This record gives sequence, structure tokens and C-alpha cells, in this order.
Amino acid sequence: MTILVTGSAGFIGSHIVQKLLEKGEKIIGVDNFDMLYEPSYKLRNISEFVDNKNFIFKTIDFRNFKDVESLFKEYPITKIIHLGARAGVRPSIDDPFIYQDINVKGTLNLLELARLNKIQNFIFASSSSVYGNSKKVPFNEMDSADRPISPYAASKRAAELLCFNYSHLYNIPVSCLRFFTVYGPRQRPEMAIASFTKKIDEGKEISLYGDGDSSRDYTYIDDITDGILKALNKKFSYEIINLGNSNPIKLKYLVSLIEKELGKKAVIKFLPKQAGDVETTYADISKAQKLLEYKPSITIEEGIKRYVVWYKKNK
Ligand SMILES: NC(=O)c1ccc[n+]([C@@H]2O[C@H](COP(=O)([O-])OP(=O)(O)OC[C@H]3O[C@@H](n4cnc5c(N)ncnc54)[C@H](O)[C@@H]3O)[C@@H](O)[C@H]2O)c1
Repeated sequence: MTILVTGSAGFIGSHIVQKLLEKGEKIIGVDNFDMLYEPSYKLRNISEFVDNKNFIFKTIDFRNFKDVESLFKEYPITKIIHLGARAGVRPSIDDPFIYQDINVKGTLNLLELARLNKIQNFIFASSSSVYGNSKKVPFNEMDSADRPISPYAASKRAAELLCFNYSHLYNIPVSCLRFFTVYGPRQRPEMAIASFTKKIDEGKEISLYGDGDSSRDYTYIDDITDGILKALNKKFSYEIINLGNSNPIKLKYLVSLIEKELGKKAVIKFLPKQAGDVETTYADISKAQKLLEYKPSITIEEGIKRYVVWYKKNK
């Protein structure tokens, strides 16, 4: 069995590749070192396993159908984990076209290749952002997700709908996993935990948008990879499944945890709320528990402790 992992040099992708290699799986990793953040971070992400004999890495942009098609001609790919994307809510407001191009057209390319190659399982990385500013918490997969408030969220929802389309028309088993703010070692540098930790450590000011009372359901990377691996071993005709921690954490409390682990005080500047940001995210994970026996086990206190240990070793 050979598994294609897109976005394999990214934060979540590099962790999932590592876990699969530990299990002895053969992996084709694809990444184009997209410029959302410095490619040097991504080279570091894959450095630990790039020489593994079961890992073949290709610098390919999956918007180019022919380039990805050539992989299917060369390797016996049976499953796809599609993590590659242009991530980030705020930057999507400045450049909606690239989000559409990578996240929607790119996903369509992969679905089409899944159809042509009779792929046994397709995992798609979706996002809690599809729930928009829903006031009903926790967010359940049956809630409507037709009011996304950023181009990023809209692109993820559009890709989910294409996934349904391909599953329905061509019987491709698809799991759309809605991740809730993932954090841990190798987190994208522009995400809150990574950027706050660096700035607080360097004595630089951090900006909090709103009054610090907004909350996120932060989910530790190992819990997310555990959920992805469990979904990979199932074969649903089409399911949308939340992968979160089901415990929203206020921004102010998050900052206090980072301060504690670093032993340093944050210099905080409060700024008005930003367009595209949702007030809260909160996952109902009962479906993941039922279908995947998913059970997140890392608390925010433990996760931040682990993140800061990693940060100090790698800064
Ligand atoms: N990190 C989170 O909190 C979070 C939350 C919800 C959903 N997600 C989703 O999970 C997935 C992984 O996120 P991440 O945080 O690891 O982001 P990331 O940016 O670290 O990883 C994505 C990778 O995809 C690659 N990529 C982008 N466009 C590509 C293209 N056209 N061709 C080939 N590779 C391309 C990038 O270079 C990057 O390495 C994404 O689909 C993201 O939308 C992440």
C-alpha cells in the first residue's frame, strides 16, 4: 500500500508522514513550499525523515494536474491524505483568488485522480472555520455550514462539497475531517501560539484582537494525527467528522500559560477585532468518538508545556 500525502512538508503533514513511516507505510509526499510562510521551516519539518527509504518526496504543485497524474503512473498509490492547502483566515481576505485556486481547484484535481485510479480512501483536511460565527455551541456536523465568514472558510466548505460529489458519483470513500486550531511542535509560525511564544520570549509586544475573551478549541497535534490515522483505517462512503479537543480556551488564559512556561511576562497591545475572525470555536466530538474511537488526551496546559520545551530546543 502506498499513501499519497499532500502538504507533507507542512505542520500537520510532516507529523502524519512521520507517524505513518513509524508504522512501516510507504509514503509519497508532495509539497510545493508554498509562500504562506518561509520554506526553510518546511525543510526543517521534513529533515528528520527525508532520508527514510519508505519516503519519496516530490516538489510538485498539485494545481498542475499532469504533474500529479505522473505520480499515479509511477507509484501504486491506494490512499490519499489531502492536507496541502493555503491555510490562514486573515490572509485569505487579502488574496481570495489564491485560496480558491489552491484549495478548490487543487482538491478537484486530487478527487479526479482518485476517481481515475480507483482510490480506496480519501481523507480531506477541512476546518472548524466552515461553521462561521455560529452561536450554537458546541459545533455539530449536522449544523449548517453555509455562512463562512472568510474566503479560506468558503474554500474549505466548497472543497467538502466537491468531496461529497465525488463520493456520490464515483463511490470514492471520503472522510472530511474538520480540524479545530491545531498546535504543537512545528506549528505554522504565523499562528497564535507559535508567534506569541517567540515574541514573548524575545520581549516583543504581542497584539490581541478584541478583549482577549474570544476562545478557540485548541487541539494538540498528536490528537489530530491519531484521528487522521483512525479515519485512514476506516472506509466511510462519505462522512464529515470534527476533530477537536471540545474545550474552548480564552485567549487571555492561553497567553498566561505561555508566560508561565517561558517564565516571562507578555507585553500586550489590545486591538479591535479583525474581519474574518470568529468569536469562538468549540467541537462536538461525539461523532468522532463513535465512528473513530477518537479520544483527545492532551490538555492545553500539557500541550503548551510540550510546545515551549520544543520551542526552546529549536529556536
Ligand atoms: N493548523 C490548523 O490549525 C488547521 C486547522 C484547520 C484546518 N487545517 C488544514 O490542515 C491542513 C494542514 O495545515 P497546516 O497547519 O499543516 O498548514 P501548512 O501550511 O503548514 O501545511 C500545508 C502545506 O501545503 C503545501 N501546499 C500549499 N499549496 C500547495 C500546492 N498547490 N501544491 C503542493 N503543496 C501545497 C504548503 O507548502 C504547506 O507545506 C490544511 O489543509 C489546513 O487548511 C489546519
